[in-house]
Amino acid sequence: MQLIVTEDYREMSQKAAQIVADQIRNKPDAVIGFATGSTPLGLYAELIGMYDRGELDFSRITTFNLDEYVGLSREHPQSYYRFMWENLFSKINVQNERIHFPPGIFTDAEAVCSRYEEEIAEAGGIDLQILGIGTNGHIGFNEPDETYTLATHVVELAEETIEANARFFHDKAEVPRRAITMGVKSIMNARSILLLANGKSKAEAVSHICTGVVDPKVPASILQLHPHVTLLVDREAARLIEMKGEAAWSHSR
Ligand code: PGA
Repeated sequence: MQLIVTEDYREMSQKAAQIVADQIRNKPDAVIGFATGSTPLGLYAELIGMYDRGELDFSRITTFNLDEYVGLSREHPQSYYRFMWENLFSKINVQNERIHFPPGIFTDAEAVCSRYEEEIAEAGGIDLQILGIGTNGHIGFNEPDETYTLATHVVELAEETIEANARFFHDKAEVPRRAITMGVKSIMNARSILLLANGKSKAEAVSHICTGVVDPKVPASILQLHPHVTLLVDREAARLIEMKGEAAWSHSR
């Protein structure tokens, strides 16, 4: 795992954009896993800037998003599809038919979950998965639990997640209670992973990724078992990290 601590959110976003751009330049038809939430907005703004300046071509990439709220259609203002469309996809030259989301509306959960896994496999697997992290350590909507759920699945959202996401809705009661998310194995199958975190509210969750202990109660702790993870965090999110097992780390500043 590589840890990069930046001075602030802006530097974190710029460095993240550099990593994504390098991936796309090295492999123009890369499969990129995208994440929603506030954290990657700066990264997406940087990528849009690169596109506008003619520095980066997204025309051959394939995208898979981590998750979607159950019960929200693609057109719903709070759907993750809409979020990605408004904050990135409509502003770059990604091809519509190469954009993938788990559906928010379905009748047969099992069928749509296994179809999503098949689509990822048919695309050749994810080259670079971008992740945020919840204050409770969730990745995608893999919430703290006694065990990990491996493949794409439907999940009941944790109370902390509903609280945290209520800011995007008029009322907390409007926040969907369930989501469909890639599982931990779907994420761990990505060839490389870029986890972003900023601000002191993420410091505790981030510190758990660095303890050497893998615990489904802090879902992101599984990332310690992945061979190519970059943990790109600002100073505030890094402040509780104790570099246990430091020899295994490459720490850039
Ligand atoms: P945030 O959410 O980027 O809005 O903090 C991250 C997450 O819940 O994964």
